[in-house]
Amino acid sequence: MTSSPRIAVLASGRGSNLAALLAARARGELPVEFVLVGSDKAGAGALRLAEAAGIPTLALDPRSYPDRRAFDLDLFARIKASGADWLVLAGFMRVIDAEALRPWVGRVINIHPSLLPKYRGLHTHRRALEAGDAEHGASVHFVTAELDGGPVIAQARLPIEAGDDEQRLAQRLLPLEHRLLPAVLGLLVGGRLQWRDDAAHYAGRVLSTPLLLGAHGLE
Ligand code: GRF
Repeated sequence: MTSSPRIAVLASGRGSNLAALLAARARGELPVEFVLVGSDKAGAGALRLAEAAGIPTLALDPRSYPDRRAFDLDLFARIKASGADWLVLAGFMRVIDAEALRPWVGRVINIHPSLLPKYRGLHTHRRALEAGDAEHGASVHFVTAELDGGPVIAQARLPIEAGDDEQRLAQRLLPLEHRLLPAVLGLLVGGRLQWRDDAAHYAGRVLSTPLLLGAHGLE
């Protein structure tokens, strides 16, 4: 029997995207093994969820390191030691140092709550509202050292409604994020999706426009 792909997850916050990954696995839709959940915040809800699920956890405090590179090199050494094949950033609120990331490029994905390349960084819901956008969304992309800048793999789109404020929009987007992230991870571990020549390839071809989350999954 071949072993399941091994996944590490980094999260800084409550961990609802981690919960969605765990739920997809529990439903039999994501044939992976979670080997580590790490955080830069000891109080992160994501760590409690992982503990409850029996997944090894790791909390590292960036303030105990001389600089960002030292923190990231230690973090990635520990991820490597976990035996992870792939790394998912699920609300991990840090840019990763280029040297630490280099051996992992093509094996790390991130979920970001905007229709990239729009609104890299923070406050994406507010920025979409302030711009008067007709739609908002979430993206999953391969991670590079550039903030929210790697090739976009897939997106979920959401029309902005008249009654939306920042909080309501974030709330309405979240269930789409929870479908998007497990779906992309499933493609990745299934070998349909690959990083090659600095680009995302899907089903053997360069992915020139992101896949779209539809009623029945990614299209
Ligand atoms: C999500 O909106 C994710 O897209 C963003 O941070 C949030 C994390 O939420 N990067 P959670 O911790 O997964 O609930």
